[in-house]
Amino acid sequence: MTQTTSGASGAGATAGGPAFDAPTVIRTKRDGGALSDAAIDWVIDAYTDGRIADEQMSALLMAIFLRGMSGAEIARWTAAMVASGRRFDFTDLRRAGAPGRPLALVDKHSTGGVGDKITIPLVPVVMACGGAVPQASGRGLGHTGGTLDKLESIPGFSAELSEAQIRHQLEGIGAAIFAAGELAPADRKMYALRDITATTESLPLIASSVMSKKIAEGTRALVLDTKVGSGAFLKDEAEARELARTMIDLGTAHGLVTRALLTDMNTPLGAAVGNAIEVAESVDVLVGGGPPDVVELTVALAAEMLDAAGVDGIDPAETLRDGSAMDAYRTLISAQGGDPDAALPVGAHSETITAGHDGTMGEIDAMAVGLAVWRLGAGRAAPGQRVQHGAGLRIHRRPGEPVAAGQPLFTLYTDTPERFAAAIAELDGGFSVGDAAPAQRPLIIDRMV
Ligand code: URA
Repeated sequence: MTQTTSGASGAGATAGGPAFDAPTVIRTKRDGGALSDAAIDWVIDAYTDGRIADEQMSALLMAIFLRGMSGAEIARWTAAMVASGRRFDFTDLRRAGAPGRPLALVDKHSTGGVGDKITIPLVPVVMACGGAVPQASGRGLGHTGGTLDKLESIPGFSAELSEAQIRHQLEGIGAAIFAAGELAPADRKMYALRDITATTESLPLIASSVMSKKIAEGTRALVLDTKVGSGAFLKDEAEARELARTMIDLGTAHGLVTRALLTDMNTPLGAAVGNAIEVAESVDVLVGGGPPDVVELTVALAAEMLDAAGVDGIDPAETLRDGSAMDAYRTLISAQGGDPDAALPVGAHSETITAGHDGTMGEIDAMAVGLAVWRLGAGRAAPGQRVQHGAGLRIHRRPGEPVAAGQPLFTLYTDTPERFAAAIAELDGGFSVGDAAPAQRPLIIDRMV
C-alpha cells in the first residue's frame, strides 16, 4: 500500500504546534510511501534550522536512497532547498563598457568525476568569449575532487565572496567562483551528511543537490556535465540519462535554459588527479597544451554554454591558442586574491609505480584512482577536515600507450608518507599492462536538451 504524509496525520501534530515529526516522515519513506509537499517543506525547513537531528536526516536520506522519489517529490524537494536560503538575481547587471547589454549569465556543473578539473580552464574560456559565469562551486565529495579544494591550493585564492564582490566581478571581469555560502544551506548540511552516510549515489539526491545551488546562484543558462562510468556516482548509462533529464526538467521549470552533455568517466580525465596538480594541468591547457581529453571537454562545454547563453562569433578553441583564455584566468585568480604566478604546492613525499614488463597500458579505473588520491589526503575523511593541497597522482602512461619494463606508470604525492600503502592498495587491480590496447570509448557520449 502506498502512503502519503499529510499534515493532519503526522504523529505529534498538535493544534497550533508542529504539523509533522521526523519519525513519521522517515517511516513513510522507509515503507515506500510518497512525501507530501507540506512534509517536504517541513523537513527541509526544520533540518536547515536544526530542529531535525543529523541522525534523523541520515535515516531519511537512506530511506530516499533505497526507495527513491517520484518526479513530483524531487521537484518539491529541490524547490524547498532553494527556498532554504537566498536566491541571487544578477539580471540588472551590465558589462563594464557595454552599459545597455545585460550579461550573458551562464554556468556549468559536473555531477562529479576523477581528475575533473574542467571548471578551471572552462570559466576563463567562457569569459574570453564574452559570457558571464556566476559559479557556486563545491568541495570534494567521496572519491571525487572539489573545484574549491583545487583552487584554494593557489596561494591567496579565496572563494568566500560577498554578494557585492560577486556582482562587482561579474560586471567587471565576467566571472566569480564562490562557495555556496547562503545559497541552499539545506544542501550544504545534507552534502556533508551524505558523504559520511553512504547516501551520495542517489539520483533524487544528486539532482536536487546540484539544481538547488544552480537555481539559487542566479545563472540564466546552465550546462550539466553528467558523468557516467566507474568513477561517476551513477555507473549505469540509463540511470545517468535519467539524472540528466531530471535536472534539465528542474532547470527549465525554474526558468533556466538547461542542457546536458553525457560524458565518459570510466577513466580519469587528463593525467593529473588531486588538488594543486590539477590546477597545474589546467594552466597547461590554458597556454595551448594539456591532455587532449581535457581540451576536448573544455571546448565542447564552452561551445554549449555560449550557445545556451546566446553568445556567438568566437571560437572557444581559439581563446586557448591566442592567449586570451590565459589572460582571463590570471584576471580571475588575481580578483579573488590569488597569485597566478606563485609556485603550486607539491606533496613532500612521492612514490612511483613502475611497469613490471613490456606491453600496452590497459584501462585505468577512475574509481581506483579517485580512492587512491583520497587516501593520499586530497579529500576528506570527516566533515570540515583540511585537505592536503599537494596530494595527488600523475598518470605517466594513458590507456593504449606502449609501456617498457621499469618505466614509471604513476607517481603518487603526499605530505604524510604513511598513506602510501593504503593508496597503492586502492590502485591494485585498477590498471593493467597487457598485449593489446583497450577499446576506445567516446568521451562525449550524448548531448541532451
Ligand atoms: N555535485 C553536487 O553538487 N551534488 C551532488 O550530490 C553530486 C555532485
